[in-house]
Amino acid sequence: MKREQWGSRTGFILAAVGSAVGLGNIWRFPYMAYENGGGAFFIPYLFAMLTAGIPFMILEFTLGHKYRSGAPGTLRQLNHRFEWLGWFQVMICAVIAFYYVVVIAWAISYAWFAVDQSWGDDSNAFFFGEFLKLGDNSPSNLGSIQTHLLLPLILAWAASFVATYRGVQGGIEKINKVLMPLLFLLVLVLIGRVVSLPGALNGINWLLEPDFSKIWDLKVWSAAYGQIFFTLSVGFAIMLSYASFLPKKSDINNNAFMTVLMNCGFSMLAGIMIFGALGYMAHAQDKELTEVVSSGVGLAFVTLPTAINLLPAPGVTGPLFFLALVFAGISSHISIAQAVTTGLMDKTGWSRQKTSVVFCGTGFVVSLLFITNGGLLLLDLVDYYINNMALLGSCLLELFLVGWLCKLSDYQKRANELSEFSIGIWWQLCIKFVSIGMLIVILFNNIMDAF
Ligand code: PHE
Ligand code: NA
Repeated sequence: MKREQWGSRTGFILAAVGSAVGLGNIWRFPYMAYENGGGAFFIPYLFAMLTAGIPFMILEFTLGHKYRSGAPGTLRQLNHRFEWLGWFQVMICAVIAFYYVVVIAWAISYAWFAVDQSWGDDSNAFFFGEFLKLGDNSPSNLGSIQTHLLLPLILAWAASFVATYRGVQGGIEKINKVLMPLLFLLVLVLIGRVVSLPGALNGINWLLEPDFSKIWDLKVWSAAYGQIFFTLSVGFAIMLSYASFLPKKSDINNNAFMTVLMNCGFSMLAGIMIFGALGYMAHAQDKELTEVVSSGVGLAFVTLPTAINLLPAPGVTGPLFFLALVFAGISSHISIAQAVTTGLMDKTGWSRQKTSVVFCGTGFVVSLLFITNGGLLLLDLVDYYINNMALLGSCLLELFLVGWLCKLSDYQKRANELSEFSIGIWWQLCIKFVSIGMLIVILFNNIMDAF
């Protein structure tokens, strides 16, 4: 059977950007930059982008393009003793798919709630109490599925199901071609709305104000490299699988640069949007920024709902914000689902449709675990080990395999033959030393922190 192919270069890039741009860009990056030196953080961040992000992206695009299979097949062809690493990556993707979808489901609910700000005055009590029902530990409630989350969960899975069922061109590409432009537009509109509010510029100033003393701190550099690996979806089967559907003639280097730059550009925009809103909120509540600043689930589902209450026309701006979150999440979720189905299809020879039904069906059932009232606890726990250990370990092993056990110069040659502009020897050095070195430092630190 002939392998599916992307219909256009734009389609491929938008899908890759769709994967890279996710919840992390909106709720992780802004806080991370703020905490690690503000404007000064951009120095280590840009450095990490150039010495780890772009080289890794070029590598994954080259590998997927050359071996034309998902992670297990590609790693097997590199070295037959490493097929398990490909399956390990597929397993990471599957696990992420099971809980990431739940956060998208929450965002779908909140887009709806935002119309009339159903969360009321106490967004904290609403989220943990009424919405997730964490307070209710009566035996009848324990372990039971929160039925009001079923519909949003089904909607969230539906996107990935349709995308993988309909395939690369008819599903993934089509959806991303709509979602990505819309997402950028939404964020621009939201920035436009937010910056004119009193206090917003203060917030943005807090984000950008450089604290140069921080750039001598190794922790800040680790944070920058960690964020780059996470934000670009490299090292765990995703970009590699997407690249396995590239046509023979594809500009690898250029595509990689575009994908990385668009992702990091989006992060900046998200930072301005979030800190603009936080600055306004601090102003309106007469608080210090340190009292309102937050990240992750707390930022999206507790802090921002309160900020939305304070906005003019909250019933318009609120749903737009949560829609942006939903679009960013869905396009990433599609890419994880696809990394799993590609791995399975290559191995079993099942049809695309069958694989999609099997994976999304199983996935839906497993993700029910995360909408029980113990769900948030479980989600936090799994997310912690996946992000701080499994993902980084997987990146490290992949780079070690390719960088030290294979002939890296062959891949450089191959990427350059395909591309308009060439990469030099720096590319090999970045992979063999800089990226691997930083990964070892970060992983070691995380393991020490965990004990
Ligand atoms: N790169 C995504 C982000 O920044 C994270 C992600 C993508 C996670 C795909 C899982 C799968 O949010
Ligand atoms: Na990202």
